[in-house]
Amino acid sequence: MSNYNYSETVEYLLDWYASNARILPWRENPQPYFVWISEIMLQQTRVETVKTYFDRFIIEFPTLKDLAESSEERLLKVWEGLGYYNRAKNMQKTAKLVMDVFDGQLPADHLKLRALPGVGTYTARAIASIAFQIPVASIDGNVLRVMKRVSGSFDNVTKEKVRRELEEDLTEIIPKEKPGDFNQAVMELGALVCLPNGKPLCEACPLMHMCKAFKQGDQMKIPVKDEKKPRKIEERTVYILECDGRYALNKRPEKGLLAGMWEFPGSEGKGTVRDVKNWVRMQQGANSEEKVIFNIEDFGSYRHVFSHIEWFMTGYYVKLAKPIGGFEYVSVEAIEKDFAIPAAFAPYLQKIHEISGMSVIE
Ligand code: ADE
Repeated sequence: MSNYNYSETVEYLLDWYASNARILPWRENPQPYFVWISEIMLQQTRVETVKTYFDRFIIEFPTLKDLAESSEERLLKVWEGLGYYNRAKNMQKTAKLVMDVFDGQLPADHLKLRALPGVGTYTARAIASIAFQIPVASIDGNVLRVMKRVSGSFDNVTKEKVRRELEEDLTEIIPKEKPGDFNQAVMELGALVCLPNGKPLCEACPLMHMCKAFKQGDQMKIPVKDEKKPRKIEERTVYILECDGRYALNKRPEKGLLAGMWEFPGSEGKGTVRDVKNWVRMQQGANSEEKVIFNIEDFGSYRHVFSHIEWFMTGYYVKLAKPIGGFEYVSVEAIEKDFAIPAAFAPYLQKIHEISGMSVIE
């Protein structure tokens, strides 16, 4: 326990939340299945983006049983563009497990929830409080920022001990009748008012009068964090191979970045046109002298940022006389319908749509 008492924040937060909470589908109907899906989606994605995906997801998989019985390919297609695809894979593992072990009902217990694949401490407590009204505090980055500013604390929030201490402090004072609203009120305040990078909107904050960071002008210094390691930069060459209106797709390895996802074939480094010709020859088999390239076009350079890596991609469109390599050659319509392509490749996908005259489905 720290020596700061947060109990005074409760009524201000609940009042503020009652009139400022965004209307969201999983808030309108906080059934456990909906809350679980929303919390998994929200782990790495902003509320505004999640809203659209959530609705699509529920139409495709209205119940946990539907999700458990889906093929992984279909699930990844529905998840396409949300990123961090392990979240989707873990959701399906959890859905199957809940069907087998818990009779299709997510358990009303934060420790049992915590044991499910893809559900960490924060998510388990968020689901427990929002879907089951269990009085446990859930601490994410937003909550740490809000509460450390309120208490004027310069604790390093990257430390697990600091997170756990706040979890205990807030679980002490969480209102028993509205634990889900309390947790969401703090998250919501962090998302809408007590902003991370730019200037926080203190004048609109229900806790301004008791906020030590505000009083001392320390809003920009709190929360204290470890410096982030810079992301690793990777140059990549991306090959958009077309043969007879079909495009080559490669399935990525089952481990590592974008595990098991479909992609346009690629190689490390920033390739030139000469490199592309060499690469094509390699894919044909080193001894082949047969000319298979009709033409090569520059398809543009794009950057994509993952959590720990940045890709700098140089793309080439290569029209082929016959298929090369061990790739799957697929029509644009089939890509659209059945293949989950990570967002990193969206600019190239867009260009393919332009060439083939199909409009892009958002
Ligand atoms: N971030 C994660 N979960 C959230 C929720 N339930 N409401 C608002 N922001 C969130």
